[in-house]
Amino acid sequence: MFVTSDYKKKLNTQWLGSEFRYLEQTESTNSLLKSVPAEELAHGTVLLADRQLKGRGQYNRNWLSEPFKNLTFTIALKPARSDTLSLLALAAGWGIVRALQTVYGNRFYLKWPNDVMISGKKLGGILVESVFNGSSLDRVLVGIGLNTGQMNFPKELPHATSLAHEFGNPPAREEILCRILEYIEVAYRKWQRSDVQLIHDINDSMAGFGDWVRITVNGEASPEKVKFLGVNPEGHLVILTPEIEVKKFIHEQIRIFPDHPPGGKLP
Ligand code: BTN
Repeated sequence: MFVTSDYKKKLNTQWLGSEFRYLEQTESTNSLLKSVPAEELAHGTVLLADRQLKGRGQYNRNWLSEPFKNLTFTIALKPARSDTLSLLALAAGWGIVRALQTVYGNRFYLKWPNDVMISGKKLGGILVESVFNGSSLDRVLVGIGLNTGQMNFPKELPHATSLAHEFGNPPAREEILCRILEYIEVAYRKWQRSDVQLIHDINDSMAGFGDWVRITVNGEASPEKVKFLGVNPEGHLVILTPEIEVKKFIHEQIRIFPDHPPGGKLP
């Protein structure tokens, strides 16, 4: 069971996660925070559940996570700006990668659009959902699933891994969560200020950045490799074709298949 008092003792952020809710079980932390009235939801609230009955992933997939073993939580944000929300998802991804790097070293990376990876395997993912009230942004829900302690994975998830599987006994989940929130807070501040350093940070942690990679666009494999020029300040993915044409894509449109993670070959 996740111990809220341990979490509160370890939390070292200025605002993110100060409002914290724990549930032993819910359908989905993202779905639950969508249904809370705006006035009852503080900016920076974190909701963590130890078991999700209908955990949701990207591309309308289910998010399967062994109860009580991993981290499944949602951060509710109420930003003043509603542009570049896809960059916000990447910023959260960078926060997770950076936090894990501070514990284990430099082997974690992001895979477009929102996967947290190690050694070619998926360790976690992010599902960002925005709720609008008419044309004004009411809240952004950053849902994060990170496999920490799970040792066995169902056959539907052949490419999944966990911290325990890669490194043995991980630190307490309360501690990992606090570390992640610290770095997401840093990334959020940069996102708010349109700090260009955030773009560099995200690109540096992204598999395939600067390489010629295979891609699919709207599900169709592109016939030739393209050069992955990185993410731009709008949060679009930018590529260069062999015909020297620069193209931009939003995250649902494109998937990339890098040969290796940032900085080297897959082990
Ligand atoms: C992905 O497909 O990679 C994104 C997975 C996101 C899962 C998290 S777990 C907490 C939150 N609640 C959900 O239902 N989904 C997100």
